[in-house]
Amino acid sequence: MTTSNASATLDLPLDMIIFGGAGDLSARKLLPALFMAHSHGNLPADTRILAIGRRDWTRDQYVGWMEEHSKPFIERKALEAPAWDRFLALFEYVRVDVDNAEDYARLAQASRPEVQRIFYLATSPELFTTICDNLAAHALIDTNSRVVLEKPLGHDLESARAINNSVGKHFAETQIYRIDHYLGKETVQNLMVLRFGNAIFGPLWQAPYIRSVQITVAETVGVGSRAGFYDQTGAMRDMVQNHLLQLLCIVAMEPPVSLDPDAVRDEKLKVLRSLRPMTADDLSRDTVRGQYTSGAVGGEPVKGYLEEDNVPKDSHAETFVALRAHINNWRWAHVPFFLRTGKRMGKKLSEIVIEFADLPFSIMPNSPCGPRNCGNRLVIQLQPAESIELQMLAKEPGSGMRTLPVNLNLDLEQAFTGRRAEAYERLLIDVVRGRLTHFMRRDELEAAWAWADPIIEGWKRAGDRPRPYTAGTFGPGASTALMARENMVWSEES
Ligand code: BG6
Repeated sequence: MTTSNASATLDLPLDMIIFGGAGDLSARKLLPALFMAHSHGNLPADTRILAIGRRDWTRDQYVGWMEEHSKPFIERKALEAPAWDRFLALFEYVRVDVDNAEDYARLAQASRPEVQRIFYLATSPELFTTICDNLAAHALIDTNSRVVLEKPLGHDLESARAINNSVGKHFAETQIYRIDHYLGKETVQNLMVLRFGNAIFGPLWQAPYIRSVQITVAETVGVGSRAGFYDQTGAMRDMVQNHLLQLLCIVAMEPPVSLDPDAVRDEKLKVLRSLRPMTADDLSRDTVRGQYTSGAVGGEPVKGYLEEDNVPKDSHAETFVALRAHINNWRWAHVPFFLRTGKRMGKKLSEIVIEFADLPFSIMPNSPCGPRNCGNRLVIQLQPAESIELQMLAKEPGSGMRTLPVNLNLDLEQAFTGRRAEAYERLLIDVVRGRLTHFMRRDELEAAWAWADPIIEGWKRAGDRPRPYTAGTFGPGASTALMARENMVWSEES
């Protein structure tokens, strides 16, 4: 399998064609990311952006929408008027109702011949098949084209396969960029460097030297205006099946032979395929679903999930998941991986905690080991701050040999003070340059669904209702109990 179609296309002008061009994702993420990429000279000189929407707008109306809805999401200090004007000059608006085959003729007319076309599908995944079929029918796809697919790619394995099949009829796998924006985050990419660019952790990065791994993505936001989508999706499909499993893969994968896309993705795939399937018993013991009730976040009162706009009053959608996963291979046998994500949690925090094994025997008179304060931990914080901390025991000054945990702290924001691109900007530049390493391959995505599906199905079959948790906390008590059973605690409790 070749890894990229980059080399043939670098010199071509670019037509970036965004389906869902007037949608929420475009406003908040894509257009600001493209603006930053453009103002730092990271788009080809001859680039045009064709925003596709179903509203009957003129170009000026679309630009007006951008001013109002997208500009506020651009960092103030980056937003100089001439740069914004130069950016706006790249745009055209094309009205296409994606279900209407005839509308694509307008797009065919608007896109230039002899260009590289990148199609960004920021629409609901149910539309991907129709869009790709129509693009092909209007001869808009050629061997230089690329397509970017937004998550969630399907709602289960079957629907993901169907999408992959229909997109795959028109695009080779090397032309398909399945985006998971967590793979574009600086610290997530840094995790690969931490593991594979430094020799010291290599020998320790396995059972029995590692006691457990925690992966937490906690958000303070609620469901916001996305209830229609979220209520059908829930935290398991929205976050665990993709972002958390991708983080787990990077923690758990074997060293790839290189950073080539397939070398990395082959190793991630092996991890996903090694995840132990969950039985009905495992589900009740090792998973916790939660749903937030009213409370306070950052001192502000907030509604419960069931009171949010457009949420059905009897909704069973989970806004929180905690689970204990296992990887059935030699490296990770018997090491629990605790994954946790939730909305309306106590604070915004994404981190990975590698808890190393206890001392085999302690000669220190007052070793603080116990669930709350065990020796060595590597804490990789992805957000809000970017840092890597190694917790060690040190002797407390004074007489005697009393030990206390202290941190070796690598503050990445201080170590590298230059500008940091947002995940979407970094990934969009990768697409333009034909770099697939930080995108998911078809088999990876399907393996992730193959593991997640039985969990979601099992909950449904058991009539499992999410447990309530007060907004502003770290989830239901059962999540703490999941750890306590193994004499462990989540990192914020230690
Ligand atoms: C998205 C989810 O993929 O990731 C959202 O659909 C979630 O529900 C978001 O809020 C979190 O991303 P980040 O970058 O803010 O951690």
